[in-house]
Amino acid sequence: MPSYLLFFSILLLLFPFSTQLQSSQAWSLLRLQRLLNYPPFLSNWNNYTDICYAEPNPYVTVVCYEESITQLQITGNGTSSPLPQSFSINSFFTTLARLPTLKVLSLTSLGLWGSVPAKISRLSSLEIVNMSSNFLYGIIPREVSILRGLQTLILDHNMFAGHFPDWVSSLSLLAVVSLKNNTLDGPLPDSIKSLESLRVLDLSLNNLSGPLPDLSSLTNLQVLNLESNYFGPDFPSLGKKVITLVLRNNRFTGGLPSSLSSHYMLERLDISFNRFVGPFMPSLLSLPSIQYLDIAGNRLTGMLFQNMSCNDGLVYMDLSSNLLTGSLPTCLSSNLKNRVVLYSANCLASEDKSQYPNSFCLNQAFAVGIFPRKQKKVSVHKTAAVAISVAASFVGAILLVGLLMVFLMRRANTRKAMKIPPRRLTERASNAYPSKLLADARYISQTMKLGALGVPSYRSFSLEELEAATNNFESSSFLGEGSHGQMYRGKLNDGCLVAIRCLKFKRRHSSQNFNRHIELISKLRYRHLVSALGHCFEYYLDDSTVSRLFLVFEYVSNGTLRNNVSGDGGQKLTWTQRISAAIGVAKGMQFLHAGILPGLFSNDLKATNILVDQNLAAKISSYNLPVLTENMKNEVVSGISSNGLKEHSGRAIHGSKVDIHDFGVILLEIITGKPITLHIDVEMMKDQLRASMAADGAGRKVSMVDPLVYKGCCKESLKTVIEVCAQCLSKEPTDRPSVEDVLWNLQFAAQVQDAWRGDSHSSEGSPITL
Ligand SMILES: *[C@@H]1O[C@H](CO)[C@@H](O)[C@H](O)[C@H]1NC(C)=O
Ligand SMILES: *[C@@H]1O[C@H](CO)[C@@H](O)[C@H](O)[C@H]1NC(C)=O
Ligand SMILES: *[C@@H]1O[C@H](CO)[C@@H](O)[C@H](O)[C@H]1NC(C)=O
Ligand SMILES: *[C@@H]1O[C@H](CO)[C@@H](O)[C@H](O)[C@H]1NC(C)=O
Ligand SMILES: *[C@@H]1O[C@H](CO)[C@@H](O)[C@H](O)[C@H]1NC(C)=O
Ligand SMILES: *[C@@H]1O[C@H](CO)[C@@H](O)[C@H](O)[C@H]1NC(C)=O
Repeated sequence: MPSYLLFFSILLLLFPFSTQLQSSQAWSLLRLQRLLNYPPFLSNWNNYTDICYAEPNPYVTVVCYEESITQLQITGNGTSSPLPQSFSINSFFTTLARLPTLKVLSLTSLGLWGSVPAKISRLSSLEIVNMSSNFLYGIIPREVSILRGLQTLILDHNMFAGHFPDWVSSLSLLAVVSLKNNTLDGPLPDSIKSLESLRVLDLSLNNLSGPLPDLSSLTNLQVLNLESNYFGPDFPSLGKKVITLVLRNNRFTGGLPSSLSSHYMLERLDISFNRFVGPFMPSLLSLPSIQYLDIAGNRLTGMLFQNMSCNDGLVYMDLSSNLLTGSLPTCLSSNLKNRVVLYSANCLASEDKSQYPNSFCLNQAFAVGIFPRKQKKVSVHKTAAVAISVAASFVGAILLVGLLMVFLMRRANTRKAMKIPPRRLTERASNAYPSKLLADARYISQTMKLGALGVPSYRSFSLEELEAATNNFESSSFLGEGSHGQMYRGKLNDGCLVAIRCLKFKRRHSSQNFNRHIELISKLRYRHLVSALGHCFEYYLDDSTVSRLFLVFEYVSNGTLRNNVSGDGGQKLTWTQRISAAIGVAKGMQFLHAGILPGLFSNDLKATNILVDQNLAAKISSYNLPVLTENMKNEVVSGISSNGLKEHSGRAIHGSKVDIHDFGVILLEIITGKPITLHIDVEMMKDQLRASMAADGAGRKVSMVDPLVYKGCCKESLKTVIEVCAQCLSKEPTDRPSVEDVLWNLQFAAQVQDAWRGDSHSSEGSPITL
């Protein structure tokens, strides 16, 4: 008898998660089912099912954590009509409020109707809310501002009215706000400027109007979609990280700001169907990231030349219905597969019948009172052209009126003909998104290009699995021991190689205390990071607190950056490969700082902490994770609270400059090809670098630079990298450049090097063997 008992109690301790859902929460779910009028997709919920362990199904996701529901997602089938008259939104939220542990709430296309009641504030743990495609109306209740943990708020395709809520400023963690297709009106309030974490703001298809506040303080803003509102007249001022900017169909007038050509992360720019005038900047065609550019239906002027360059990644380009002259750049007309180029109704030299004669565009430009502003490169043509147009327009003032009418009529026609739906850029696969908990925040991951990652999705591992993978943590699988615990190499059942970090805790904590940490770790997935694959807890048998935490990472096979640049023997990277490795590290660093929330800073970057994979892509392997540092300091491992996050951001600025300095040291090693292990070496070499930069003669430089590099590099490219390196190593943190500046310069160095290689026909593809 006693041995049976012992067996069962051990069993219970081993599986702390298999306990039943609290019955009160189960009752609430059943009540929700009734309030939703027993939809077919909830038919398997009844008194006897353990809802937490129900069969997964595309309409319903319930995630429980230790007897409480943390995630509830119910999706109707899209063709839903409003629930019957008897439905009460008030009772619905009263029932929801009995699930106070909910972090993710997604109730879409369910036919919910009514005005969201103030008691939504009782769901105080909410982080992600998606209630798209319902029939919710009235204002968005002010009480939402009490949900301090809220990161994502999506209320698309409803009938919310009133102004854009000005209380959003009290939600300091907000990263995604999407209120697409409602009937909001009035201006965008100034308070939005304080949302420093904001990455995505989608207000398309509303009745918002008026001038935009200065959005340049939203330094993390990546997606701004204002399509089909009445915003204007001035072009918004924005931070430099914008990836998607859609101003289509608003009331913007005036010229495009020249700063637009410095948005080098911009992938999608749509300013079509506004009233923009003045010169179109051809440099927009060659922005390094641009993929989608639509300026149709404005009155932009300027002359295009065949020899202008454009970004290879540009897949959609619409210049239609502007006042452009000259000829289409050959880089656009070269028929790249899958590339769409539209340019009807301009004055371009082309077979296309919709083009007007040159004089027409010049007269039009004159008629709207804007002369093409003088551009340096084309000034000769321009002044001549303007002189002609001035003369022409005095002579032909009457003709002009006629022309105008023809133009308007033809334009109306071309508009009709132009109804080609804008091509959707291929959705980035979302299956690689780490934690189920955050599956709904796909937006964030999409913009961060997480989908391209070729590693399995994040999950939790069983201890048995890890023991099997490492042959019971045998010594042959031991990789080493750092300040943050031991590392093992393992091979999973499916043949996948992994690196396993083992953390032993000095104090006892329940696994619940680790929730936040696990959430953060699960976000460490990016091409230039050694990505997290999952975790595993080991428990003490007596009180089922956590004894060890195993973190499973991808195994990167090709050695450290030091092995590949400055170590003994072996193949060494060429200059081209070194720059691309440096770009990789910088991108990884940028992701750690701004791609996850909270960002990770002071990551102890060094050549031995950067790993290189079989494609020679550099991956950062050291993270300043709170769970690691707190454990080292023997502090209580607490959840990262919202307050913690604020303090964290205070240290962020300092921490990011620490990383930049460490990055400078890595660059130094890349340039010199010598392992740098001592601080004093850095100081000395930095001085040498400075001296060599000052001395223009090549002789001094050769002595500093790795001979392997010097042989195969373009001097302009090398000079750029040396300059970046010196800046990164500045003594004053404030003198060090931002990650963005570093990336910009390195990308420039890569381009120059590429062009040079093209010219010199040197075959430099494979690494040089020592
Ligand atoms: C579930 O329990 C409720 C309350 O006890 C009861 O009214 C209902 O009939 C039960 N449903 C089923 C299917 O047993
Ligand atoms: C979708 O909804 C409609 C109307 O609510 C319903 O008739 C239909 O059976 C539903 N389809 C599925 C697959 O649930
Ligand atoms: C806007 O929402 C309505 C329902 O509220 C929907 O019928 C319509 O298709 C949506 N429009 C767009 C452009 O998504
Ligand atoms: C929004 O603006 C459109 C166009 O002006 C108008 O038809 C519509 O009634 C407006 N909606 C609301 C709710 O004000
Ligand atoms: C491009 O061509 C124009 C005229 O065809 C010429 O004036 C200009 O210098 C060229 N620019 C470059 C960079 O070759
Ligand atoms: C919100 O829910 C809708 C409907 O399920 C879904 O299509 C959309 O992708 C969700 N939004 C985000 C950002 O995940």
